[in-house]
Amino acid sequence: MHELAALIRAVPDFPRAGVVFRDVTPLLADAAGFARCIDALAEPWLGHGVQAVCGIEARGFIFGAALAHKLGAGFVPLRKPGKLPPPVIAVDYQLEYGTDRLEVQRNAIRPGERVLLVDDVLATGGTLAAARVLVGQLDAELVGASVVIELDALRGRERWPGGKPLHGLLHY
Ligand code: PRP
Ligand code: HPA
Repeated sequence: MHELAALIRAVPDFPRAGVVFRDVTPLLADAAGFARCIDALAEPWLGHGVQAVCGIEARGFIFGAALAHKLGAGFVPLRKPGKLPPPVIAVDYQLEYGTDRLEVQRNAIRPGERVLLVDDVLATGGTLAAARVLVGQLDAELVGASVVIELDALRGRERWPGGKPLHGLLHY
């Protein structure tokens, strides 16, 4: 995991003063590193019968789509508002300042389908919690979630109710 951490760039004061942004673009650009990352994301879920990987816009699409391919699963995008053609269902969630909304197509997941949630970063946990609500509304069977980076100080894991595994590859 050290090799992967070396491919994450720490960017001080982005996007705002005082924030250290963890930039995954060097990891994506490194063929061997990206492949190792997808292998490591997949490892806990091999043999768990994942049928659909739900990736969260935008960087969750990149990791989620590659992971879906690795797991032999389909890929379902969870998108910011107004991007997906109807019919969609939506959930609103709190940001540090204001609110945001995630949408999924109503017919993208069948009831009982075994779904894995994927994103690049778990920060305050609001986005992943909203994604969980969305797949719950479609009566999917949530298997768990994986993120590449967990920002431990922001305690997003506390907003992930127990019962389903949440795997973070790298912790800051
Ligand atoms: C970032 C990140 C996660 C979310 C985590 O997305 O990719 O989706 O924030 O934050 P949270 O745990 O506090 O909810 P961003 O909104 O920056 O979108 P992007 O991937 O489209 O850049
Ligand atoms: N990197 C990428 N996405 C993020 C971060 C970060 O440090 N914090 C919240 N979303």
